[in-house]
Amino acid sequence: MQYNELKSLLDMHGQAHVLRWWNELDEAGREKLAAQIANMDWETVSLSHIGENSGRGKIEPIEGLSLEEIDARRAELSAVGQEAIVKGKVAAVLLAGGQGTRLGSDGPKGAYNIGLTRPLYIFEQLIRNLQDVTNACGAYVPLLIMTSELNDAATRAFFEAHAYFGYPAEEVFFFRQEMAPAMDEHGKLLMSAKDSLALSPNGNGGWYSSLERAGLVEKMAARGVEWFNVFAVDNVLQRIADPVFVGATIASGKASGAKFVRKGYPEERVGVLCLEDGLPTVIEYYELSDEMANLRDETGRLVYSFGVTLNYLFRLDVLKEIVSRRLPVHAAHKKVSCLNESGALVAPERENGYKFETLILDMVRQAGTCLPFEIVREHEFAPIKNKTGKDSVESARELLKLNGVQL
Ligand code: UTP
Repeated sequence: MQYNELKSLLDMHGQAHVLRWWNELDEAGREKLAAQIANMDWETVSLSHIGENSGRGKIEPIEGLSLEEIDARRAELSAVGQEAIVKGKVAAVLLAGGQGTRLGSDGPKGAYNIGLTRPLYIFEQLIRNLQDVTNACGAYVPLLIMTSELNDAATRAFFEAHAYFGYPAEEVFFFRQEMAPAMDEHGKLLMSAKDSLALSPNGNGGWYSSLERAGLVEKMAARGVEWFNVFAVDNVLQRIADPVFVGATIASGKASGAKFVRKGYPEERVGVLCLEDGLPTVIEYYELSDEMANLRDETGRLVYSFGVTLNYLFRLDVLKEIVSRRLPVHAAHKKVSCLNESGALVAPERENGYKFETLILDMVRQAGTCLPFEIVREHEFAPIKNKTGKDSVESARELLKLNGVQL
């Protein structure tokens, strides 16, 4: 795009300030900025999304498969799942495009070493968990790893340097998610350099469209993949491509499945699976009224207690429909480092702008049907969000030890 075209496009959106330093830029800088502007998703990046997701419909409890029911049908469900895996119908999608700001490490979060007497990287532990299944099934599961512009090269180099932790390199596929620019509180695009908007990863909801853009949906479909097991980088105890979960979801006839842990107490800060206007939905802990959070059934169990663990199964045919619809955009108020009036980069002391993200949890609603599948917290849920305290490196180490992992 030429300067005049860029200028009129930006004028139309009230963002012409972005070209303020144009005359100081060299050819490469101009090309970079022009490409960012040309690729802008103007509908997503808008302050009109603030508060947009706050209204909720009629909330009701959702039926799920309890531990007792799973145990009673374990052999049968496992056989269904194993057959699907052996036939190549299941692919695993590792969401590793986040910035891991709470953990505060420089490199990709998965490259974080959680070992004590030997190195044990988060990525390595996840591969071990996947290998438990692939060894038992005698078949590989393609592993699709989502990165972002910020950590793509480092993630690929890390896997290569560690020989993919023994997983076949030809079964590992990297793809990049898109970036979205941040805006200030008046709706003006922020800049991180004279030749760049202040960009950050666009949330984990974009995984499927990024996968498609990378040509990997087509590739997987050609291999016969029908299900994607999508999971977060930070839960080092999770079972990946778990045959019982796969089998249960297939047998249920539902278009998606979600592994959940029972909430420990009413105030626990975890997203909860429920029905909203008859459709499966994940609502945030702060969207549950006190009354709902404390509601118990006749056996004394919390009614809204299916805490999501970010381990989902989605059927490919419904994903194809979902992608044609727009996921809700979440505008998050954040501290965004940006250029000031004189072109110097400043790190703000308080929230100064909005980042725009779509979230995978909104895909559960769009899938139309979902099987909540209970897991044992102590055996399958050890998320690493922080260095210490709740959901931390420390708490995950304790849980790994409890499960016989040598650290
Ligand atoms: P979180 O919401 O925990 O975010 O991501 P995060 O970036 O890892 O950590 P903080 O909030 O900055 O401390 C949940 C999962 O979604 C992935 C993360 O990598 C993690 O596996 N994710 C998040 C993406 O892949 N892309 C994103 O844009 C955001």
